[in-house]
Amino acid sequence: MPSAGNYLDVALFSVLPYVALFTFLLVTIERYRGQAFTYSSLSSQFLENQQHFYGLVPFHYGILTVLTGHVVAFFLPAGLLWWNDHPARLYVLEAAGLIFGLLTLVGLLAIATRRLNVPRIREVTSVTDWIVLGLLLMQVASGVYVALVYPWGSSWFAAIVAPYLWSLLELAPNLGAIAPLPLAVKLHITNAYLLILFFPFTRLVHVLVVPNPYLWRRPQVVRWYRRAPSPARHG
Ligand code: HEM
Repeated sequence: MPSAGNYLDVALFSVLPYVALFTFLLVTIERYRGQAFTYSSLSSQFLENQQHFYGLVPFHYGILTVLTGHVVAFFLPAGLLWWNDHPARLYVLEAAGLIFGLLTLVGLLAIATRRLNVPRIREVTSVTDWIVLGLLLMQVASGVYVALVYPWGSSWFAAIVAPYLWSLLELAPNLGAIAPLPLAVKLHITNAYLLILFFPFTRLVHVLVVPNPYLWRRPQVVRWYRRAPSPARHG
């Protein structure tokens, strides 16, 4: 007879991912159709600039690099395993992952501290903002913990987690290799699903509307129209 643990695994790793993905797609599209102007990071830079810089910049450099690593491991697991075949290359990759993970964590802590300590910023922080920051902190902290305690994640992600994620996409979840994973890894995966679930309700939607056209559109020419200074004013 299946144990309570088995049922929990099925709920978290076979059901939750679909609930999260379905909600993500549905709400993202509906929100864009109905309230396109709310697709924004809701910048607070004009309220406070200095702590903003020291939080937002490291956080974004860190998270974008770490996310790219996850995407590469998902799409090219065999390539990653080939790269890691050589210990020196494995160490470089693992060290880089940890450094960017720590950069993300430091940036995130700075962002949260700014929201707590600067009264003007606290004023404009909503409950959803706190949920986003809480989930991100849990995600990044559990990621760094896993990197420190269960090393060579780049290899076991490619060998265990990537096939599981592909099985989800093929609508045939295979929990065989996921069920025995340590609790911290399971927490990291579950929290990622929660982030995907809450994503479309929060300011995280800004990730989907990066102003890409700036990269290829023709430069914008701004012309100033000023009247010639009147000679009378200059004596
Ligand atoms: C795709 C590239 C991305 C761009 C261009 C971008 C850009 C921005 C900008 C312009 C802000 C507003 C900063 C301000 O207050 O002025 C912001 C805030 C934020 N971004 Fe991103 N972002 C990106 C990716 C991400 C990703 C991948 C995440 C997390 C998964 C993320 C999480 C956040 C959060 C949580 C905030 C709000 C921080 C706060 O509490 O003030 N961003 N982002």
